[in-house]
Amino acid sequence: MTKKLFVKTYGCQMNVYDSERMAGALEGQGYEVTEDQAEADMILLNTCHIREKAAEKVYSELGRLKPLKAANPDLKIGVAGCVAQAEGEEIIRRQPMVDLVVGPQAYHRLPEMDAKLQTGARAIDTEFPEEDKFEHLPKARGPKASRAPTAFLTVQEGCDKFCAFCVVPYTRGAEVSRPAERLLAEARDLVERGVVEITLLGQNVNAYEADGWSLARLIREMAKVDGLERIRFTTSHPNDMSEDLIAAHGEVEKLMPYLHLPVQSGSDSVLKAMNRKHTAEKYLRVLEKMREARPDIALSGDFIVGFPGESDADFEATLALCEEVRYAQAYSFKYSPRPGTPAAGREDVDEAVKSERLARLQAMLTAHQAEFQAAQVGKVLPVLLEKPGRLEGQLVGRSPYLQAVHLQADPSDVGTIIPVKIMASEKNSLAGVRDTTTSGAI
Ligand code: 5AD
Ligand code: SF4
Repeated sequence: MTKKLFVKTYGCQMNVYDSERMAGALEGQGYEVTEDQAEADMILLNTCHIREKAAEKVYSELGRLKPLKAANPDLKIGVAGCVAQAEGEEIIRRQPMVDLVVGPQAYHRLPEMDAKLQTGARAIDTEFPEEDKFEHLPKARGPKASRAPTAFLTVQEGCDKFCAFCVVPYTRGAEVSRPAERLLAEARDLVERGVVEITLLGQNVNAYEADGWSLARLIREMAKVDGLERIRFTTSHPNDMSEDLIAAHGEVEKLMPYLHLPVQSGSDSVLKAMNRKHTAEKYLRVLEKMREARPDIALSGDFIVGFPGESDADFEATLALCEEVRYAQAYSFKYSPRPGTPAAGREDVDEAVKSERLARLQAMLTAHQAEFQAAQVGKVLPVLLEKPGRLEGQLVGRSPYLQAVHLQADPSDVGTIIPVKIMASEKNSLAGVRDTTTSGAI
């Protein structure tokens, strides 16, 4: 009998990828993915621990699931992801109806864990095992994966950087890169199933290093896969932007002109306190080289405001850096102390000050984003059609710069790249029409 699995995914793209792989691992146990939580035999929360109140959000979600469990005692409830890793058994102590706690490095053990659940026992695994979990996980599949023209591919996991605010080195462990041959095989396999764009994922993806392969070499080799049209990668650290990786942006046509390169702050003293191991100047030099290699590159970043010790002058330095870079897109957050990280015990900046700084920074970033988008109006861009839009007859695609583009097109065109004339810039997307006069090459 098939059982139904409902997975709720929080956080980053790596969790999206992991959720698919967990579903794949449980397929062998007779589970099939459902979009309807009410009919599930197992509910898995794939959690994120990166910012504030992550654990509290998981506990309140578990609270909401209580009536379902009460109505169906056979329902299995599992917590996966970084909150599972960080909290471990504490989850079951606080919420005894939880049956399964599984950390990100143990997903390949899910089949055994499910077998244990079926005997009525609980299963907990938050080890960092020696073996490579991806070796033991079936390939991503399922109807959802086979229809989408874009896919994520985890090439590297974990982080050795130990930024003073960040839980990732503790929840995801040390940096581990997957063998290039396997990744190339997985890419070919994805393309066979209709994927035309692959985003290479890693917490520190540009630190990828496996048997002499760098990320640049992997990208260059992957670009040779017939049928694969676009390659992206995220997230990178400024110190790992090698000359070769920068050059690849000018040389590898399939590598899209978009770089997410978090800097967190524009102040050298804050960067030092954050243990980022680079200065603002060094970061800006990397971007300068990127723009030399690929003048139209769209830049993206992450910022934290109100890090312990951040003065008004430090914050002004962040604004000045943004003014200089003019990001196409960026993410910004108020600092929140994460248990177990070096910065957690330091004196916190006043909440009102954090809010005010965040509002000022976001106003600037939004204006720059609008400016970058407006500059596309009138151009013809190659757009990868990804899925139906909200309106009748509408499809949503992506420009090379990762902007969403809305246009009228036939649903059977999903998965193709077409030239689109950009007509208007909206809040978080562009609107365009199919261009019949050009090839759309950029
Ligand atoms: N507080 C606020 N933001 C954080 N980030 C990571 N840890 C914290 C924290 N403790 C942000 C960083 C990172 C992004 C993924 O989340 O900007 O790049
Ligand atoms: Fe966290 Fe990124 Fe710093 Fe690693 S490099 S510790 S993942 S913020």
